[in-house]
Amino acid sequence: MKNKIAIMSGKGGVGKTTLTSNLGTILAMQGSDVGIIDANIGVPNLGLHMGMPLVSQGCTRDILLEVSSLKKSWVVNEDGLKIIVANIIKKPSHHSVTLSNLSRVLSTDQTNYVLIDSPPGANQDTINIFNACDELVIVTTPELPAVTASVDLIEQARIHNKKIMGLVINRVTGKPWELEPSEIARRCNVNILGIIPENSLIPESIAMRLPLVKYAPKSNASNAMRDIAALMQNKPLPKSNARSFTILNSIVAFFKKLFENHF
Ligand SMILES: Nc1ncnc2c1ncn2[C@@H]1O[C@H](COP(=O)(O)OP(=O)(O)OP(=O)(O)O)[C@@H](O)[C@H]1O
Ligand SMILES: [Mg+2]
Repeated sequence: MKNKIAIMSGKGGVGKTTLTSNLGTILAMQGSDVGIIDANIGVPNLGLHMGMPLVSQGCTRDILLEVSSLKKSWVVNEDGLKIIVANIIKKPSHHSVTLSNLSRVLSTDQTNYVLIDSPPGANQDTINIFNACDELVIVTTPELPAVTASVDLIEQARIHNKKIMGLVINRVTGKPWELEPSEIARRCNVNILGIIPENSLIPESIAMRLPLVKYAPKSNASNAMRDIAALMQNKPLPKSNARSFTILNSIVAFFKKLFENHF
């Protein structure tokens, strides 16, 4: 695992913040020195997922403006996870803030792993995030519009020589209209880092303002996120989880085949 990992997506609302909050929590609970930062300053919600107050000192925009230092601003939660949120309520000075300073600001910090919760899309924000991170994790859902937007983002990453750690396919149900993981990997030309099933415990955990791995640690989606954290650190998967990963893949393949046979 490299130091600064941006969690990115082409399409919005596919699960970046959910993945960031859970991966950060998993790594911190395993004893890593890890920070998560909300770089989606337009529509921030990492703080909501993490149960943080709506307004805090040393938020992302103050750090980008260098009004606060990153080192002094980390809020450390009970799991030892360092967090920087972007306040939902903006100060007047916040309206002109961009991510152009993110690279400089992050380079001043010694935290081992920093996960950057990114805004969606492929635009100037994206380039600023590319400049600030070592590697990318791309999140998509298995639907055509999200996969198409991922292909565009991946193209941008390649143009900027940015290393992609892998693709996370989120909200997989196995419904026939979903693209199969192998098809998504082929279209994106990127390895799959993980498959997270659709699970209503995720919105429930967000409403409870707790990462899923704390709210429902034994759920299938929590297992999938722990597998992703293991793969990111090049650790072997626990046998049972590796098996469920394979089972999930075959279920998706089964439904895809069923669909092809019927139409
Ligand atoms: N595996 C899942 N199963 C069910 N619901 C999910 C799953 N993953 C995410 N969601 C739901 O999808 C919604 C969007 O998730 P999230 O906020 O993490 O996406 P995002 O990519 O960060 O969005 P944005 O682009 O707006 O920042 C959330 O309300 C969450 O409850
Ligand atoms: Mg988000």
